[in-house]
Formats: sequence, C-alpha cells, structure tokens
Amino acid sequence: MAITRPKYIMAVDQGTTSTRVVLFNHNARRVTSTSVPITAVTPETGWFEQQPIDIWRTVQTAVAETMINAGIHVDDIEAIGIANQRETTIVWDKNTGQPIYNAIVWSSTQSQAIVDALDQANQKKLITEKTGLPLSAYFSASKIRWILDHVSGAQAAAEKGDLLFGTIDSWLVWNLTDRQSHITDVSNAARTMLFNLHTRQWDDELLALFNIPRQMLPEVVLSAGELAVTNPMQFFGGSVPITAMVGDQNAGLIGQLGYKPGTVKTTIGAGTFLMMNTGNHLVASHNDLVATIAYQIGEEPVYALEGSVFAAGSAVQWLHDRMGMISDMTDAWQAAEASQNNDEVYVIPAFSGLGAPYWDPHARGAVFGMTRGTNKNDFIKATLQSIAYQTAEILRMMDRATDHPIEVIKADGTVSRNPYLMQFQADITNIPVDRSVHEDTTPLGVAFLAGLEVGFWHSLDDLANLTSQGRMFEPQMATVKRNRLIRGWKNAINATRFFAN
Ligand code: G3P
Repeated sequence: MAITRPKYIMAVDQGTTSTRVVLFNHNARRVTSTSVPITAVTPETGWFEQQPIDIWRTVQTAVAETMINAGIHVDDIEAIGIANQRETTIVWDKNTGQPIYNAIVWSSTQSQAIVDALDQANQKKLITEKTGLPLSAYFSASKIRWILDHVSGAQAAAEKGDLLFGTIDSWLVWNLTDRQSHITDVSNAARTMLFNLHTRQWDDELLALFNIPRQMLPEVVLSAGELAVTNPMQFFGGSVPITAMVGDQNAGLIGQLGYKPGTVKTTIGAGTFLMMNTGNHLVASHNDLVATIAYQIGEEPVYALEGSVFAAGSAVQWLHDRMGMISDMTDAWQAAEASQNNDEVYVIPAFSGLGAPYWDPHARGAVFGMTRGTNKNDFIKATLQSIAYQTAEILRMMDRATDHPIEVIKADGTVSRNPYLMQFQADITNIPVDRSVHEDTTPLGVAFLAGLEVGFWHSLDDLANLTSQGRMFEPQMATVKRNRLIRGWKNAINATRFFAN
C-alpha cells in the first residue's frame, strides 16, 4: 500500500535584516524554519541598500535548508506564500535579468531631494489624496526616480521598455518563475506612491509626475489566488504554486487574527509598524497616518490605517552597538526594571528623522530631562519608553480617524519579548496589550493566505482555533501620572523638531 506523505505550506518571509522560510503543517504548527541574514550596503550616511542577487540567494539557501532540515521533497510543498519587506525598490534589465543598481531599502533617505522638490512644487496634497501616503522618501516612487537619474542610460532604457521595476515580491516571483511572471500584489502596489487607491490602478498622473515609464511596472494581482508557479530549474526541480503574496506587516496583521475591522496590531522589530484594519472602508489619512490596502482576497480590498515608527528595536540595538550600555535584550529589560527615577528622562531616537505621525525627515535624536542623578538604567528605560510613546501617539490618531474604539493592542516582533516595554505600553495608552505567543506572526499570516487558496485550510476563522492565546498586559498607571508623562514627551518632541528645523 502506498504511503501518503504529509503536505506543507511554505512561507517565505523576505524581511529587512533576514530571509526566513517556515514550513507549516495542517495544525498551523511550525515544522521547521530557517533564517539567513542579509548584508546591508551603506555607501553614505542615511543610505541603506542591499544586493538584489544576495536577496534572491538567501531565499534559495533558506528554502534548501528548510527542506533538508524537515526531510521533505519539493513535491511535499502544497503551496508557497511570499511576504516581503515593503517599498524596497529594485530596477532590473528584463533581457539579462540583471539589476542595474542595488535594491534601495525602504528606510534609505537618499531620494529625499526628489521628495523635497515635489513638496516645493506643491504636489503633496495631490499625492496623498490619490495614494493615501504622506509625501516621503519611504515609498518606492522617489527611489525609482533616483535610480533612473543616477544610472547612466537608465531613463532611455526604461522608455524603450528594457527595464522592469519591482518591490521584493515582484523580484522573487520573477526569479522563481524563471523570468516568466512580472507581478505584484495590491498591498505592495499600494506602497509605491504610483498606485491610485480609489481606481486601484497605476495612476498616469503620478507616473508623469515622477517621469516613470508605465511599461516598467508589474501587473497588479490579488494577494491570494493562482498567482504563479515556480519553474523547476529555479526551485529544486519542483513546479509549486505560489498562491499568496503580501507585504510583511500586512501578513502580520492576518497572523494576529486581524482580519476583523477595528483590530490593531503592532509589530516591534527594528521599526514599529502599527496597522488598524478598517474593513472595506478606505479611511483618509490626513497626512499623519498612512491609508493603505491591508490585503485583497475577494472582490473588495480590506483597507488599513498604518503608522510606522522608524527607530524602535534599532534604538535598543544602538544602546548595544554604539553606546555599549547593554549586552543583549534581556539586559535592557533588567536595566529598565532597575531604574529608580521618576521617568523624567526622554530619549528621542530620531536617527533618520521621525515617521508617523510627524513625518519629519530633518529631525535628529535628542535626550531631555537629565539631572546629576541620571544613570545608565534611566537612559535605557527612556529609550524603551520612546517606542511606547510613539506608538501611543499613532494609536491616538487612529482612534480619532475612525469610529472603532481600540479595545486591545495585539503585539508581536522581537522587541515585544521585553515585558517592561509591554507593561509600559499598556500603561501609557491605557489599553491592554495582548502579546502573541509567536515572536513573529508574518510567516503564519502569509502561510494562511496561501493555504486557504489550495484548501489546506478552509476559512480565516480556522486560524483562531489553531493558534494559542498569548500573554495579556493590563494598564496599571494612574491617570495623573500618565498625563504628566505624555505632556513631557510632547514637549521633548516639540523641542527636538524646533532644533532641527
Ligand atoms: O515598510 C517596511 C516594512 O515592511 C519592513 O518590515 O519587518 O522587514 O523590517 P521588516
């Protein structure tokens, strides 16, 4: 009698610092997972690039190691879901398959001058109205423009139809299909600043504004469906369907069971990314938050409001790398618990400007409130608190923009393992924090989308039955104290911005 081999869903989570591949079984349990780091290229201050070929190789390596570790064959993979760092921009030659420049990573500020010129030309309002995005170098359009400006002959080649643009999802599918498929999903398209949220098409007026030829752009597809099939030559001899593609933060929202309107999640990694599901209803951003598409699996997209804090875990990392104050994350937690001061110190880690809700690229880091008695523990605590203060401001904006009262904050990400921060987050917002059992919910979210398509699971609600309850942090801080601390934070932010501008 033939033995039936078990099947799996493979999640490829191509993030900013590493590529992770996770294999899930029918119970949504992680069978095995492999992570391969990505090397950063930083040619100048504020620039952050990666080699596209390196990104592709990390995917191949992680897939191979995962299959070896799990002892599976490529045919045991029922479907693949791809989640990716968003906005990161690659331009490549469609004839040779070679990138014409490094990938410009989302947090890189090298295209700021292009953004400033558009601001001076009063294009901010038009861009935000069409795309839901504040005018910022964070999104892909100014990065594409920068590459076309800086690589000799690139504009002419793009106009001739020889160059293709893609975010990481497009680049990976292009390679996985051996150059057959040039696609991106709606959630990634919505982060380019070239996609009109109202028509849900690439927008000719925006393309003209950035002088980007339309033929460079990928076809926009749903976040789940029969999107592409791997080419055996590029995928260990297998033709495996790719049935989900979605931005990593968006996948994280699904992995946090955030498919119900009003759900808010925060993922605290190098940056912090907050998303509120606003259902089939597009809520305008008013410049302080990002209005975006969370994902689309049916007729209508599910929209989201988003706020990004640029420096979160990277600020804690800075305490380790540059300040030599901590040896690891656990240290940061113990130091914060050991601090005896009255929370009067404020650290503003605006290393590459401030993200939501300030969108101030010129702001720089600052420390306020030090006294002769301030010590290292107070400084570390204040750095952790800065994550919670910025998160609290974004939540206030979300609360104001929608009629969904925020009942709980669902948290994940490496830095969410710090219990001091989770408790302070609950205290400063006066909202309970529900920390996921999973450090990272992105692979689970995209695996779920991919698995639904092939009948591996049957509805998003199945996910709730298959995942375990996390840890709850209830608010404990007195209102008077909370108000005093928030006032101090606002003063510190205002002073920082006054100094920088
Ligand atoms: O918008 C950028 C975001 O998608 C990056 O996420 O987790 O790769 O740092 P992460």
